[in-house]
Amino acid sequence: MRFTSLAPLLLCLAIAPLARAADAPAIDNAPGPLLRDGSLPLIPAPAHVQRTQGAGFTLTASTPLSAQGDAARRVAAQFSALLARSGGPTLVPSVGKAAGGVRFVLESVTTNGRHPPGTGRHPSGTGRQPPDAPAAATATEGYTLEVGPSGISVRAATEAGLFYGAATLAQLATGGSDGHIPAVRIEDAPRFSWRGLMLDSARHFQSLDEIKQVLDAMAAHKLNTFHWHLTDDQGWRMEIKRYPKLTEVGSCRIPAGDGGRDPATGAPRPYCGFYTQQQIRDVIAYAAALHIQVIPEIDVPGHATAAIAAYPELGVLDTPLQPLSEWGVFPNLFNTEESTFTFLENVLEEVIALFPSTYVHVGGDEAVKDQWIASARVQQRMRELGASDEMQMQSHLIKRLETFLEQHDRRLIGWDEILEGGLPPQATVMSWRGTEGGLKAASEGHDVVMSPVTDMYMDYLQTSSPNEPPGRPLLTTLARTYAFEPVPATLAADKQHHILGLQANMFTEHTRSYARLQHNLFPRLAAVAETGWSPVQQRDFRDFLARLPAQLQRYRAWGLAYAQTPFEVAVAHQDDRRAGSVQVSLANPLGYEVRYRTDGQPVTAASPLYQAPLQARVPVTVHAAAFFNGQPLAAAPSVAAFTAQSLLTRRDDELLTCPGPGQLLLRLEDDGPADGPRAVFNVNIFNPCWRWTDADLTGIGTLKVRAGRIPYYFQLAHDEPQRRFEAATRAHGEMKIRRGDCSGPAMAEVALPASVGADGFVTLEATLPKQTTGKGDLCISFTGDTRPAMWVLDEVTLAR
Ligand code: ACM
Repeated sequence: MRFTSLAPLLLCLAIAPLARAADAPAIDNAPGPLLRDGSLPLIPAPAHVQRTQGAGFTLTASTPLSAQGDAARRVAAQFSALLARSGGPTLVPSVGKAAGGVRFVLESVTTNGRHPPGTGRHPSGTGRQPPDAPAAATATEGYTLEVGPSGISVRAATEAGLFYGAATLAQLATGGSDGHIPAVRIEDAPRFSWRGLMLDSARHFQSLDEIKQVLDAMAAHKLNTFHWHLTDDQGWRMEIKRYPKLTEVGSCRIPAGDGGRDPATGAPRPYCGFYTQQQIRDVIAYAAALHIQVIPEIDVPGHATAAIAAYPELGVLDTPLQPLSEWGVFPNLFNTEESTFTFLENVLEEVIALFPSTYVHVGGDEAVKDQWIASARVQQRMRELGASDEMQMQSHLIKRLETFLEQHDRRLIGWDEILEGGLPPQATVMSWRGTEGGLKAASEGHDVVMSPVTDMYMDYLQTSSPNEPPGRPLLTTLARTYAFEPVPATLAADKQHHILGLQANMFTEHTRSYARLQHNLFPRLAAVAETGWSPVQQRDFRDFLARLPAQLQRYRAWGLAYAQTPFEVAVAHQDDRRAGSVQVSLANPLGYEVRYRTDGQPVTAASPLYQAPLQARVPVTVHAAAFFNGQPLAAAPSVAAFTAQSLLTRRDDELLTCPGPGQLLLRLEDDGPADGPRAVFNVNIFNPCWRWTDADLTGIGTLKVRAGRIPYYFQLAHDEPQRRFEAATRAHGEMKIRRGDCSGPAMAEVALPASVGADGFVTLEATLPKQTTGKGDLCISFTGDTRPAMWVLDEVTLAR
């Protein structure tokens, strides 16, 4: 995630209520799967599928596999590898024509179907095909696939098209089909030319193997654009030979808190990583073989702290900087000197020499202009350059870089902020703060890639499950991602071709591990792929859900650690604590059928189907699982145990945040231990206050709160004043307990300690007034400006 200025953030909130994840687990009325007539288990759905007469074909290890010419043979080898990797048989490509098997036929070789390492160009920027265009094998990435009793043929006019035909065939033969493929003719081509994923390797760094696995998965979903975010405040990740300090200094930061200290010695433990030019070449070549273009991003003029730390003369202030270990929006901008522009051009020169893509991304986002406004020197430069305000100054820089890129036969793309102050004529806009910027740019005749934060950001959580990793609890469900339409009807028909496509963005502030990266990307990337590829009339979420379990089976064969949470069962309950009874509601977030047991036995497809809330007396343990076609969808059943004691306890993720204007809810992890699993907390960083709705306090004398302390590692530029510090009266502040709307006088207070225990937690006990009784909201908050740390609630327990 990137932090955005609060204005678009609040816009996001209006669209998808922030507090959802803090509600007791959401029980959605999700639609559930419904297979369309004749639908095949393919993702993305092909443009045209025609079931043909006669028997189909069964693909086995002895099926001949033939291809003529180098390009078709390359695809045949890739097909064979993908098929085996996806759980299918291993076919051995045969030389020349072989009767009765699988044939790959390249109908006419073109130069733009394949991009030899370091030289090729991707056929991008050509606009999209009309949504209702008949898919044709002649389209740049299209193919025709025919299956009959005598064999299978895949034909295309380009190697890329043949490759996508191979991806479709590998799906037909796997995911539970056991190689049995019905007689069918598929004519297919993508809707959009830009089907992208952005990966932030600056906030957290991925190994080459991890990136290659992501590229493999992208290609199998027919995604074709990998936007690589290589520079940011927290790290510069690309070797630039002319400026070695960019990586010597700029590729290391000291993580905040315990994560940045050696647990044995307490010595600083830096977090480092960068890609050498040779490694970048390797990634580009690997991607090219998968028909994926790699678009580098060098972010200017903001998100520049790591570069300025390496070369202080690039900055506006004289104060030395370090690559940051905080998240958010920072004031550090590149200065506006001619020497800095030359530096950026020199960097781009090395970028261009490495990356064959038509496009180079120059960022442009979230550059708060405070330093430029306050700098007499920048103001003087603005007068010299004829920029009447700081927006125009930024625009001047972007135009300058655009001219440089044009001179080198490249095109500039930037985040939608590059619209401010005027856009260079040839620039392409990546619309992230919603779709408005993109629509404006398209109306003005610019090409656009849609990647709105509300739908396409993979660091936003996909369910309200407590099993979600750290991230933004603004829900971006699979359904929401799937429903995103890149070409709104409001865009004039003659401008629609300017929408090149869509892109998922994976910012990694909260994504410290490859396991979390996979969790965040999958299965949502499958939804992005379908919108990018399939014609509008083939997009149908319920049908997609019916095709998804086959795709999950392939993911498992690949060893992909996709998110389990959408396939688990959300458990919500209401209780009458004093009567010892609970009412338990179950739902799968996607609407798959739920079966359950309350007798401790394993849940199977024969267990009772959940139809209505269950009434039970405590103690009771509910085992539940979601099923499709008799198969459980998640790796493990969901288990919820209710006891007299559990009804007295709520975790942070079962609580709401408190009402009020300042809301920036995050799901954050502890700063330690340096290695191994860390606790995760739901917290509104602008107002650390948690609310238990309708808590029954009759007979309760004490409230026990297990609280932790984590670093407050955020800067939010102009939004920072929105953070509320309730005044503390004691040396280290206090925990306050209130009832009702969280604003009245406290009913109990506990002094906070100077430090927490060795495990990072402390249990605070608040004595409630004697006459406390009845049901009502209970608010627990922490006072004081605790920065650079903050208190977080882990669990609250009522006691007699
Ligand atoms: C962005 O999320 N700042 C592009």
